[in-house]
Amino acid sequence: MYQDLLNKDKKISVIGLGYVGLPIALEFAKHFSVIGFDINDARVQMMKEGVDPSKELDSTAFENVDISFTSNSEDLADAHFHIIAVPTDINEHKVPNLSPLLSASKTLGKYIKEGDYVVYESTVYPGCTSEDCVPTLVGATQDRRLSVTTNGDIQKQLLNPGIDFKYGYSPERINPGDKEHTLTKILKIVSGNDQEAVDEISKVYGHIITAGIYKAPSIEVAEAAKVIENTQRDINIALMNELAMIFDKMNIDTSEVLKAAGTKWNFLKFYPGLVGGHCIGIDPYYLTHKAQKMGYSPQIILSGRRINDGMSAFVAKKMVQKLIQKGKNPQDCKVLIMGMTFKENVSDIRNSKVADVVRELKDYSINVHITDPRASATEVEHEYNLSMIEEVSDSYDAVIVAVAHEEYKNLDSSYYTKLMNEDAILFDLKGMYPKELFDNLDYWRL
Ligand SMILES: NC(=O)c1ccc[n+]([C@@H]2O[C@H](COP(=O)([O-])OP(=O)(O)OC[C@H]3O[C@@H](n4cnc5c(N)ncnc54)[C@H](O)[C@@H]3O)[C@@H](O)[C@H]2O)c1
Repeated sequence: MYQDLLNKDKKISVIGLGYVGLPIALEFAKHFSVIGFDINDARVQMMKEGVDPSKELDSTAFENVDISFTSNSEDLADAHFHIIAVPTDINEHKVPNLSPLLSASKTLGKYIKEGDYVVYESTVYPGCTSEDCVPTLVGATQDRRLSVTTNGDIQKQLLNPGIDFKYGYSPERINPGDKEHTLTKILKIVSGNDQEAVDEISKVYGHIITAGIYKAPSIEVAEAAKVIENTQRDINIALMNELAMIFDKMNIDTSEVLKAAGTKWNFLKFYPGLVGGHCIGIDPYYLTHKAQKMGYSPQIILSGRRINDGMSAFVAKKMVQKLIQKGKNPQDCKVLIMGMTFKENVSDIRNSKVADVVRELKDYSINVHITDPRASATEVEHEYNLSMIEEVSDSYDAVIVAVAHEEYKNLDSSYYTKLMNEDAILFDLKGMYPKELFDNLDYWRL
């Protein structure tokens, strides 16, 4: 199968061309013939014109590649190795939303053939591939194998998973905004329904991944490994956030504490902050959902989630306390928020906890201005019903630097002094600046 791909007799399809799917599709397309499928036709049109709708890749990524972008699912019939990289978010009750994954599986089931391979890359809970995705896919294969009965009737048969087609799971570990750990430079975990599947899938990925392949002993191990990577980060950040809240009460600078503790060789380097986005703040719920279904009630994971989700309210309350301590009425105050994306150096605003900070401040009747050099004002309006200002004004009572964008790194105290009125407050949520820079301001960090 791998050899066929090299000879371009067979094609690779990538289903779901977002932050994860598009870079994979383009990387494979440097070596193989690729079909890039997405249900969002507007996004497909942009990609046809060499534009990444997620704004992570520049136009050169679309050069010298053998790829056809499509929103027509029938085109999937031409491919033999299929990769599914659709979103796995949660609903308002923090329960996994498998609709995109199941819908993509159903779509592919209509076109998959005997001998094909299917690899899921979306982040899921252990068991999801074999128990939810593959059965859904198989359920849609009724037209894929026809046989003639002894009395001449045509009989439709479902494909047999693991026999008629092979499948596997290979989690994606890219880190948007990170120009160092890029797709090919991250060791890839690969798993499959049997040894042949693991070996063949590894060969295909091995062709583009220079960092190496780790063959997991089962699909469930690979699924669990991915989901705990982000769960571990979430809990460690939650601990830092809890420490930040404790030390704030004690009037101790958490950054200094972490710097001092970090001199010990085995002290882990994590920092407090807002935890948003579509991975760290979401993936742990996939694990806790499955754990609860199995009758186990997770303690640490969910309390970490609660702490991290509560940080926006903590920051807003702290701001209001400080304004009041200065004799200011929050209703008369104007606060500038710098940074709206869920993390630094990306344009992605999904599940940004900065939006929660804004809402909390507005609930105190504070006049909030938002600016971000990377976020799209239209998307912010659409996603959060919040307007971004075109140009920052002056006379702010406080500024919150919420996201450590590169553009903010070299701003000095005079920049902030000009923005603010007398006796103003600077919240440096990510601890971007040395505190000593701001002797003339009321400087605070988590
Ligand atoms: N973004 C990351 O940094 C990252 C990192 C590691 C893992 N992941 C995981 O990878 C998966 C994909 O995430 P993403 O950030 O690329 O999502 P995304 O929202 O950027 O993109 C998903 C794409 O899938 C398309 N899509 C949705 N339903 C579809 C369907 N039924 N058929 C075809 N296309 C469909 C959407 O139109 C969109 O273009 C998720 O499980 C996520 O948790 C993401």
